[in-house]
Order: sequence, then structure tokens, then C-alpha cells
Amino acid sequence: MFDTISSQASKLINLTNRVRNSKPSKTKLITVTSGKGGVGKSTFTANIAFLLSQRGYKVAVIDADIGLANMQVLFNMKPKYTLFDYIDGMKTLEEVTLKTSYDNLYLVAGKSGYQYSNHSNSFVFSRIVQDLISLNKFDIILVDTGAGLNDYVKEFLTISDNILAITTTDPSALTDVYSLMKMLSFDKNKLMLCFNHTKNYKIGLTIANSLVNLAKKNRLNNDFMVEYIGNVSTSANISTTGRLRKLFTNEFIQDDSTKQLQVIIDYLLKNIH
Ligand SMILES: Nc1ncnc2c1ncn2[C@@H]1O[C@H](COP(=O)(O)OP(=O)(O)O)[C@@H](O)[C@H]1O
Ligand SMILES: [Mg+2]
Repeated sequence: MFDTISSQASKLINLTNRVRNSKPSKTKLITVTSGKGGVGKSTFTANIAFLLSQRGYKVAVIDADIGLANMQVLFNMKPKYTLFDYIDGMKTLEEVTLKTSYDNLYLVAGKSGYQYSNHSNSFVFSRIVQDLISLNKFDIILVDTGAGLNDYVKEFLTISDNILAITTTDPSALTDVYSLMKMLSFDKNKLMLCFNHTKNYKIGLTIANSLVNLAKKNRLNNDFMVEYIGNVSTSANISTTGRLRKLFTNEFIQDDSTKQLQVIIDYLLKNIH
């Protein structure tokens, strides 16, 4: 299934590139995913985007979660248009790319409950990512995918080389991350892994190593690498700022969790392509 989607996607991407791209885009794409819901994926995405924008990069976030599109809440916005207005041909890309109240930071808002089945396997949705890359206006695009491994999420994973998975150390979250690894190992070279709600770097490292060992034992593709890139602790400041529609990395610059996220940013800036 994933193979089929993947080959459909590469055909589409090649075609799109041929038509639109006279020169390569400077824009780098990071797709944030999780397997399990509720692990902190949107919180990570919004705060990573903010920290990158603070370092001078022009950043766009695409909220591609049709299960629970809540990026506008984290950015405290009431979006007039969503990515579906673009998909449905009602608005231009510029019109759906909304300026947030933070410098250098833009949002393409999502909408919960959109009927994906109408377009199943069509790569209609992830086209917005390609189109935003082709604009060559942003340094970095972050896509917040929904939870789970449905066809809609797979669309966004298929077109991305920089995939970042957020998980907790909870056994059910780890099971879901392992399923994600298994699926990606067919077509991708690498998965970057972050542990949320995880007190220190070493705990994450130990668990990441066990996932890698399990992959070896089950003979997943040898060329597929899992790179552990950091942890964020549980912090009351994160849930409080989330509820107040603010970003913890902006409100609590000296918090351990903000410093932990800065380590992740350093890694991303060195390693994404
Ligand atoms: N490290 C953390 N410490 C405390 N609360 C957190 C942390 N990470 C996420 N949260 C809270 O957990 C809830 C779920 O996070 P969210 O980013 O919406 O998850 P997801 O996008 O994976 O469904 C939110 O209320 C958020 O504020
Ligand atoms: Mg979310």
C-alpha cells in the first residue's frame, strides 16, 4: 500500500517539479508525526516553529491534522481561511498562508473533520506542501500531521525526507512509533525521534536504542536509521501556556523544557536537507 502511494507520489512530485520549478527551492520541509495522539506533537510543532523563527528563519506551519486541527489555538488565531479553501480552489496559496502575531512565522490553518475519503489516495492534500515549497518564500515548512497511520497521514510522510516523530515512553505510544518505523523503513532512510514527557536525555536514548535493537531483531531494512535527537520534560508551564493560547518557549525562555527544545533545534538545523 505504502509502496503504491509512494510511487504515485514521486510521479506526481516529478511532474509538479518539472512544470513549476525552474530552479530548486531553498525551502526545507520537516514533517512532524507521532503514531499515537495526545503525545505533544502540535505543542512541539508550534514551539519548534517559533524557536526557528526567532533564529531568523522564515517559517510556515501547515496544520494537516484533520482529526484535531488545533494549531490556530496554539497561535491564538481565528483563521478566516484554511488549507481546504486552497485545496477546493476557493482561495490562493497567499490567502491561506496567514501571518501569526510572531515575526517570521506563518500558519496554514487546518480544519477538523474534513472528509478525506472523497479524495482517498489522490495526493490532493499534500500538493499544498509542494506548492508552498515551489513558492520559494519560506526557509522552513513544518507540517503537523494527524495521529495514526491512515492514508491521509501517509500522503504527507511520503513526500517528506525529514520526518520527526514525537513520542512518550508510554508502552502504547512506543508500539505506535514502532509501527511507524516499520512502515517508513520500506521507503525512507531515516526517522528522527524525540521523547516528550521524558525527564532526561539518557532515558530517551536508552529507549531509542531498544527500538533500534528491536528493528534489527525483526530485520527491518538495514539502511533505515532511527536518530534520537532529544527529550522534553513534563512541565506545568507547557500545559498552562497551551491553555492560555501562548507558546511556552516564548513565555518561559529559561525553563528546562525550552532549553531542551533548543537542543533539538540545533540538531534539526544541522541535519535537515
Ligand atoms: N512536556 C509537556 N509537559 C506538560 N504538558 C504537555 C507537554 N507536552 C504536551 N503537553 C500538553 O499535552 C496536551 C496534548 O498536547 P498536544 O500537543 O495537543 O498533543 P498532540 O498534538 O500530540 O495530540 C496539551 O494540553 C499540551 O499542553
Ligand atoms: Mg495535535
